[in-house]
Amino acid sequence: MGDIGKRKEDHIHIALTKQVAMNRTTGFDDVELIHRALPEVDFARISLETTFLSHPLSAPVLISSMTGGTDQGREINRHLAEAARERGLAMAVGSQRVMLEQPWTRSSFTVVREVAPEIVLFGNLGAVQLNYGMGIHAVREAIGAIRADGLFLHLNPLQEAIQPEGNTDFLGLLDKIHAVAAQLPVPVLIKEVGCGIDPDIAEALVRCNVQGIDVSGAGGTSWAQIEGMRAQDASRQRLATVFANWGINTARSLVLCRARLPKLPLIASGGIRNGLDAAKALALGADLIGIAHPLLEAATHSTEEVIAVLDQFLLELKVAMFLTGAGSLADLRDQRRRMVADHDPAPDHMGIISPD
Ligand SMILES: Cc1cc2nc3c(=O)[nH]c(=O)nc-3n(C[C@H](O)[C@H](O)[C@H](O)COP(=O)(O)O)c2cc1C
Repeated sequence: MGDIGKRKEDHIHIALTKQVAMNRTTGFDDVELIHRALPEVDFARISLETTFLSHPLSAPVLISSMTGGTDQGREINRHLAEAARERGLAMAVGSQRVMLEQPWTRSSFTVVREVAPEIVLFGNLGAVQLNYGMGIHAVREAIGAIRADGLFLHLNPLQEAIQPEGNTDFLGLLDKIHAVAAQLPVPVLIKEVGCGIDPDIAEALVRCNVQGIDVSGAGGTSWAQIEGMRAQDASRQRLATVFANWGINTARSLVLCRARLPKLPLIASGGIRNGLDAAKALALGADLIGIAHPLLEAATHSTEEVIAVLDQFLLELKVAMFLTGAGSLADLRDQRRRMVADHDPAPDHMGIISPD
């Protein structure tokens, strides 16, 4: 196994066995949906159906990028893909750089299409690699291998700053992202990996032909902590501790990006830990919610276990919709105007509004 394969294995092992959650909240705790004692909704008829980038989905959920590149990654991806297929959800694979540099790891990604030919599927590469020799040919190869419906380019400056082998030249990336987005046959989306995206950057990305953004905000998995646990030297370990909780929280990043870009396909991930968090994110304007870490352990075991975790999330989401009188996602989004934020996650954009 090469260096990248070893790194992927470390990431999964650490994420499974150590405390890697940030020691701060996503901001959703401060958001309160208004309870409706008379919901005027038949629970059995609540619909979670939606479309994302013109693709129909049974529920507004993305299984977020996690892995590939190792035998264990192949099994995880297979279980996640089968669960996505069974529940009609979207999925993204983990970074495919390993597949480009070590072609023998390809099947850990292509397995996803073998078991789930019809799911809405996204590829994943680090945007910074565009500054380290990754050209359009390689990007095409990554999306072609899994017949991806779109490509996530991830932005992970904190992670790269802590990794001993990190790639930290982020100069001039916007133009390169623009060039990739202009040349690919599928939409390019941008995601963070747990530190959030601010609205100025979101706007600049949209001007560069980016078709969607996953804010992947702070409050969930801490990549600083994961890299800190891999670090051998005291300086990097300390760096990881100092920046363990760095970032824009998920609720704030979502609200600010939605206010600036009302029509942008927007995904909320980073610390979505139950269906109530999901309901709040959707009410605040997310088109989809993304889940990574809560599915990881189940995905090391079986497809059935992944489905069980997802079903619980979906049940909780439906109960939140029931209790707010929302029979559909469109109704849930209407909740925004009736929300009370005790401690407003984004005071300029999310006024405190009382029930009508
Ligand atoms: C084990 C693990 C591996 C991940 N690998 C990737 C990756 O390869 N590419 C990427 O863009 N994000 C990756 N992520 C980040 C997630 O996609 C997501 O943005 C982040 O973990 C926040 O979601 P969460 O709090 O639900 O975990 C990974 C997350 C985990 C937990």
